Amino acid sequence: MDKYEQVIELAKRRGFLWNSFELYGGTAGFYDYGPLGSTLKRRIEQIWRETYVVQEGFMEIEAPTIGIEEVFVASGHVGGFSDPLCECKDCREAFRADHLVEDMVACADALNVEELDKIIAENNVRCPECEGELGESYEFNLMFRTNIGPGTGRQGYMRPETAQGMFVDFLRLARFYREKLPFGATQIGKSYRNEISPRQGVIRLREFTQAEAEIFIDPNNKKHANFGRFADTVVNLYSEEAQEKGIVEKISLGEAVEKGTIAHEFLAYQIGLTNHFLKRIGIAADKLRFRQHLKDEMAHYAIDCWDAEIETDRFGWVEVVGIADRTDYDLKAHANVSKTELSIYREYSEPKMVTQFVVKPNMGKLGPLFKGKAKAVADALKVLTQEELEQESITVTVDGEEVTVPGDVVDFAEETVKISGENIIPHVIEPSYGIDRIFYSTMEHAFAEEMVGGKEEDEDEEARNILRFKKEVAPVQVAILPLLTREELITPAKKIESQLKQKGLLVSYDDSGTIGRRYRRNDEIGTPYSITIDYDTLEDNTVTIRDRDSMKQIRAPIDGIEDLVYEMIYMSREFESAGKAL
Ligand code: ATP
Ligand code: GLY
Repeated sequence: MDKYEQVIELAKRRGFLWNSFELYGGTAGFYDYGPLGSTLKRRIEQIWRETYVVQEGFMEIEAPTIGIEEVFVASGHVGGFSDPLCECKDCREAFRADHLVEDMVACADALNVEELDKIIAENNVRCPECEGELGESYEFNLMFRTNIGPGTGRQGYMRPETAQGMFVDFLRLARFYREKLPFGATQIGKSYRNEISPRQGVIRLREFTQAEAEIFIDPNNKKHANFGRFADTVVNLYSEEAQEKGIVEKISLGEAVEKGTIAHEFLAYQIGLTNHFLKRIGIAADKLRFRQHLKDEMAHYAIDCWDAEIETDRFGWVEVVGIADRTDYDLKAHANVSKTELSIYREYSEPKMVTQFVVKPNMGKLGPLFKGKAKAVADALKVLTQEELEQESITVTVDGEEVTVPGDVVDFAEETVKISGENIIPHVIEPSYGIDRIFYSTMEHAFAEEMVGGKEEDEDEEARNILRFKKEVAPVQVAILPLLTREELITPAKKIESQLKQKGLLVSYDDSGTIGRRYRRNDEIGTPYSITIDYDTLEDNTVTIRDRDSMKQIRAPIDGIEDLVYEMIYMSREFESAGKAL
């Protein structure tokens, strides 16, 4: 078994992940999160909320997961959100054409279907399932279509990203934030993509959870007020240039901005924040890098984009977060389709005196001459240049018709006017997290298999599986283990369980099997601390606390145990300082 199989086997057996619809044979691209999986996922999402919503101040919104067609026409998903699909002529199995040739060519995902078919033919690529002949590739749109309302209804789509909700609500958000840039909004929720051949577990799902922030910033100022926080943070940067050399660079974010490797401070700050978040939830620092998109792989809306990639045992480097400067692409696109101006008014710190060329059509003269068309003629005159207006008679086009206007019906002059502000279309910086991929990576990086025991003469060495989750992430933070299922031990054990739950800790009560087996079980699900209640407890009101990683044990009083465990989990209190070593 490779590590992926070991982790997935454990995940299924212990209630983290289950194949969806297992009762009916299952379907690729869907996973259920079991009791421990759901809790672990919520812990990750909660820490994301703390980071982006509470600390950064980007409030959460909740838009529908079904969108109307206009939204995805504007976003470009109806027209261009597709992957190249290639079907086997014999077994009818479908494949991503770019995946079939990715070992034969660099940047296969940037090629069009004709280019892909050429490579498939040149290399005589056959069906990976049955060796059959492959058909011609074609673009397959990844959105799930649906109808809104009965009958043929209105065309709708399951959202392929949560981002559009924030763009559609832009004007409301701008008002909520009193039009002060920068401001941002977040969503954590389901997205849907009808992936062509999802064969990588939770890495590629058809229904998955995204956590996205859309941060609206001043297009003329991409500095970050708090950049100092991450300026000295050293990250593994795999820039476009580094990819040419095949060497990942260790560099501080401040230096990367100075050298122009990262486009600007705001983007670099987001890389710093992502780095901070992923390490906090337990991603190994040496298996985390930030890879810049090459020019030809960049999404249509982006000018600079960095993926946080995590190294996994089976799948190699996997993209888990995309961090992009989406410019004003989305706001302009929605403004265009909805015919609504999506901008904010920015008042200058001091009013500016500006010299402008001003055209003043004389409505008193235009009215009798052009009657109902007078206003349209005036509007057409207003956009002319000085040279065009200086003619004796001026020709403008109104409703497709050429109209001749005498030169003396319009005045024009250069005037100096006071301007207090302007309308601007903000640019958008977007960190887009895939929670399921992060969930799996957290499990894989926490997973270890080790031999323990065997030190005493009468003790056999045995293997233990362990999930070394960060304490604040673990789905069970403390296990309560009465040594025996006897009333006199159950009563204090239940009391301790209740004390810890009242404190908000995630507790499990486990009284089945030998104590050794229960320790192993808790190591395997990543419980940082186990508390054993034994006969000494009845004598001196103390319990044994066992540390998952070191397997060391201490004796600590029951009184105040909830504060003690809380401090060890959330406040870095040292285990050894919490009681008497055993
Ligand atoms: P990939 O190239 O792997 O398909 P992508 O570039 O299409 O990914 P984005 O469109 O940037 O991914 O989506 C943002 C994030 O959403 C990704 O970094 C990833 O973590 C997550 N994500 C995207 N597609 C899936 C999927 N099918 N299953 C699980 N997570 C996904
Ligand atoms: N919002 C970025 C993406 O999902 O592609």
